Amino acid sequence: AGGSRPADRQHRSDPVGPGVNETHLDLLVLGSGVAGLSAAVRAADGHDMAVGVLTKGDIQQSTTRWAQGGVAAVLGSDPDSTDLHLADTIAAGDGLCDLDAVRVLVDEGPERVNELIAMGAQFDRDAAGQFSLAREGGHSVPRVLHAGGAATGMEIERALCEAVTATAAAVYERWFAADLLLDGQACAGVVARGPDGTVREIRATHVLMAAGGAGQLYEVTTNPLASTGDGMAMALRAGAALGDVEFVQFHPTALHHPQMPRPLLSEALRGHGALLRDDHGERFVDELLPRDEVSRAMTQRMIEHDVSHLWLDATGLERFSDRFPTIHRTLEEVGLDPASDWIPIAPAAHYLCGGIVTDLAGASSVPRLWAAGEVTCTGVHGANRLASNSLLEGMVFGPRAIEAIESGQEGPSSTGAMRSVVGRDAEIAGRTISVALPPASVDGGDVSERRTELQRAMTVGAGVLRSADSLAAALKRVRGLCPSDAPTDLDRAELRNLVHLAVALLEAASARDETRGAHTRSDAPRPSKDRYRVIVRSGSAQR
Ligand code: SIN
Repeated sequence: AGGSRPADRQHRSDPVGPGVNETHLDLLVLGSGVAGLSAAVRAADGHDMAVGVLTKGDIQQSTTRWAQGGVAAVLGSDPDSTDLHLADTIAAGDGLCDLDAVRVLVDEGPERVNELIAMGAQFDRDAAGQFSLAREGGHSVPRVLHAGGAATGMEIERALCEAVTATAAAVYERWFAADLLLDGQACAGVVARGPDGTVREIRATHVLMAAGGAGQLYEVTTNPLASTGDGMAMALRAGAALGDVEFVQFHPTALHHPQMPRPLLSEALRGHGALLRDDHGERFVDELLPRDEVSRAMTQRMIEHDVSHLWLDATGLERFSDRFPTIHRTLEEVGLDPASDWIPIAPAAHYLCGGIVTDLAGASSVPRLWAAGEVTCTGVHGANRLASNSLLEGMVFGPRAIEAIESGQEGPSSTGAMRSVVGRDAEIAGRTISVALPPASVDGGDVSERRTELQRAMTVGAGVLRSADSLAAALKRVRGLCPSDAPTDLDRAELRNLVHLAVALLEAASARDETRGAHTRSDAPRPSKDRYRVIVRSGSAQR
């Protein structure tokens, strides 16, 4: 690799002239969250690669920015250890974590956090200057670093954006990648639409997909409007294998309020002693269980009591506004005082545990296509992600992809979750299903109405509780919702991506006829004795 020259760096947020088509990058990063930006900094600064970062919003807009609760990493010693972090992660993942991937996460995480601190990120400390650590659901000890109380993502994004802006060869803001370009079997760049409407090819020797999650599949989500599963859908169409996409994590404590995305009430509140209460004021679940168990218990209670929400009682928390200033401000805006009011809450779609299957270096099944962050299935989360492991995953696996590229790797190795794809995992077998992705519709229809309809179908059919019937009904509905063909029109492209990913998710959830982790089948309430990973591939290359 090589070729980045500070003098060549260009900012590509404005309509651009003819020169752009001639750009050839060593690496194109799609997405500007923690995974993509950590990789971009490592590639440009550490290895002098010519790196482009392309994002459909502004560079500092990403789901990372919304992350409240922080980064789980073992920076000290007793009573915590990386072995304990590993054990908690595996317990939350309910039998489907890849042990090697989790080992990489917990062992390399602390060094990545220290690098971020060296880059200028500031995490909260106590009066003695030690990190103030929070406890969250599924963690056996307090180990979660945070910044600004519950503004951790914003601080990480700030530090990384500064570093990337200083080192990347090109930043394409408000550019939308519609599809991956292939040279034979290998990824060679993207077809993208610029802010002035121009459609261009941006070619790169390697592409790192870091386009985040897909909360917009659901009516109620903590994710921003841009979380439309673009990366997973694009990769699926290009021939990549997806895994674990049936495991949608619903955060238990989203504010029950019309505001969208739903304001999050961080797990750290429960870590500090906030309680869950039902409509009779009764506690009904251990607040510090992993969040799949808490969300399931809440949903069951809401159905039994026929109520739309439950309550978070944080009245016993001291210094709420000092510890959680951003959450306090949000509550003030809706007229709630956590010192005296119980806060109305309900689960909301929050995180997709699966995605593009990768090996331990972030290589997907398509040569020269790499992936990192929420868009992936590295095997780190298994059937349910441990709270605050996601920022860590992005900052560990993004840079790993760069090291692998630098060492000459081009395609996947038989490591990590990729072993389930290539049939080499003795413990977690791969069950591959081939899905037919619906083509563009002839009539088109109203794009925004179709998006709402898709979200409704997914919420009813593939929410916290699902069954074979509910999934089949959603699949039938969703299949007919593709927009007419115009993949570079942003609204239609997002809808097409949502439809394609929804089909993959619904087929995977139908194939998993058991209850495990974040996937609760009312018609199959127990885990099966077999452990398997559902791998989804597109039956035909869909463009
Ligand atoms: C939270 O603060 O509760 C969210 C943390 C996470 O999603 O891991």
